[in-house]
Amino acid sequence: MPQLIFLPHNELCPEGKVIEVDPGVTICDAALQNGIEIEHACEKSCACTTCHVIVREGFESLEESDELEDDMLDKAWGLEPESRLSCQAVVAEDDLVVEIPKYTINQVSEQH
Ligand code: FES
Repeated sequence: MPQLIFLPHNELCPEGKVIEVDPGVTICDAALQNGIEIEHACEKSCACTTCHVIVREGFESLEESDELEDDMLDKAWGLEPESRLSCQAVVAEDDLVVEIPKYTINQVSEQH
């Protein structure tokens, strides 16, 4: 079973977390099922960016993002080349190292 290694995030998983998941599950669902309350404002329908994560390792093992995801990602806070929307990124056979960005676009707009 592939492992998902979540890097520490101040609020969601301060110590970081390592979980084992079945291939075929999305990163977002895997996190939620394991107590990491990643935001998913559009209920995982690829219509927000609050579930944005950066896949630090294993990015290449994921199926490529489609156009809709890429368009949404453009709006995400802290976009990086290895950014994905976690509700669209399906775990394959490889281990992944996942970073949850410090902010989501919702939090940023609340602050300004
Ligand atoms: S939960 Fe909205 S795009 Fe993933």
